Amino acid sequence: MKVEPRTGEQIRDSVLEIVGSTPLVRLHKVTRGVRADVVAKLEFLNPGGSVKDRIALTMIGEAEADGRLRPGGTIVEATSGNTGMGVAMAAAIKGYRCIFVMPDKMSEEKIRLLRAFGARVVITPTAVEPDDPRSYYSVSRRLAAETPHAFYADQYHNPANPRAHYETLGPELWEQTSGRLDVLICGMGTGGTISGAGRFLKERHPQIAVVGVDPIGSVYSEYFRTGRFPQAHTYKVEGIGEDFLPGTMDFSVVDEVVAVSDRESFLMTRRLVREEGIFCGGSSGTAVAGALKYLRTLPGHGEGKRAAVIFPDSGLRYLSKIFSDDWMREHGFLETEMGAVGDLLRAKGLALVTAVPDEAVRTVVGKMKRFDVSQLPVVAGDRLVGMISEVDLLSYLLEGGHGLDDPITAIVDPAPPVVTPETPVDGLAETFLTANAAVVVDAGRVTGIVTKIDVIDHLARKLGRQ
Ligand SMILES: Cc1ncc(COP(=O)(O)O)c(C=O)c1O
Repeated sequence: MKVEPRTGEQIRDSVLEIVGSTPLVRLHKVTRGVRADVVAKLEFLNPGGSVKDRIALTMIGEAEADGRLRPGGTIVEATSGNTGMGVAMAAAIKGYRCIFVMPDKMSEEKIRLLRAFGARVVITPTAVEPDDPRSYYSVSRRLAAETPHAFYADQYHNPANPRAHYETLGPELWEQTSGRLDVLICGMGTGGTISGAGRFLKERHPQIAVVGVDPIGSVYSEYFRTGRFPQAHTYKVEGIGEDFLPGTMDFSVVDEVVAVSDRESFLMTRRLVREEGIFCGGSSGTAVAGALKYLRTLPGHGEGKRAAVIFPDSGLRYLSKIFSDDWMREHGFLETEMGAVGDLLRAKGLALVTAVPDEAVRTVVGKMKRFDVSQLPVVAGDRLVGMISEVDLLSYLLEGGHGLDDPITAIVDPAPPVVTPETPVDGLAETFLTANAAVVVDAGRVTGIVTKIDVIDHLARKLGRQ
């Protein structure tokens, strides 16, 4: 039922009316070291959860208008998941069926999301050439040809894809910054975002630098620099990078392409969540990592410039990957350049000194002096009971009424911070905001203790070697 809006009412007729007009938010912490004002365009706040809602509307709208898509029709699309979500959302409202073809590297969350909308999802192998009949492009073309009343949305060649960004994303960026924008930075998948928004901004202000960010393994950065296509390699970040040149990618509006590794992308994604409170997906991390690399090359590290970075989708789609420590470790992304706690302990090389719960204050003070330590793990056998620290001993003795032969039992901290040998050293920052030391426990056994000065020492050794 179509209801005429009354004055003052703020009711949208469907979720399709809330696509676009996403906020632009300043980044503060991850950008330390560059001088530019870096702002994030939060495209994951679209109702379908990504930047692709915009193109779903234009591609479907245009196909309806010219008769390629009729009531009862089926939309077929090759998608890394997000375009599928936008299309599925619109199809649910408009009554179309959907068939999506996805590469097998995409996260389980995305497949389940599309199935939640009632779509048929066909999975294809990632590691085949684009013209292989099993490839995601070939399978989607075949399904579109075989299915009656099918419309193949074809985001890789459909001009309605970059047009969506030319008509909406570009103007929003321009208005939200009152035209004070010097750099646009985004990842490139189909290239629709960068080509459409980039073209709009360049028409307004030709001096705006348009910078594409490309995962290492994709062909774009080499193609941009040399005009040649290298052999593509698989990589883990989703939604960006290609192994061919889509018709929607317009390099004439691109001024620079920066290459970023999976590790840089994922570690930055996690930092964006923990330090900026922005729960974004992996390609946002790629875009920010690329933005920082680019801005550092500018005079004064970008002083006086404003850069807008596109955040295409949300972290919710990657809970089982980027936000799973097990997955990150399995793929070697958590072994950061700073190493793990196990490396630090090995380099420190000292034997572990411990106390037991009923040990006398006098003996514990003696151990602290002899071994020059300020805290000791308290153990029963090799199991952790707690931690005893210099400050707690001091307050205990200052309180008065206590003797050196008292057992330490009453002043053992029963819940000290605990880390494992696999904990990355750069993950200790949070622990040391509230504690001076953490106990290292490996498979239930206490194997060491790390203090702030141990970490400083470890980092100084690493830096000294560079
Ligand atoms: C997560 C994600 N980021 C970025 C992009 C890139 O956008 P575009 O295809 O407009 O280049 C996509 C596109 O698939 C995506 O899914």
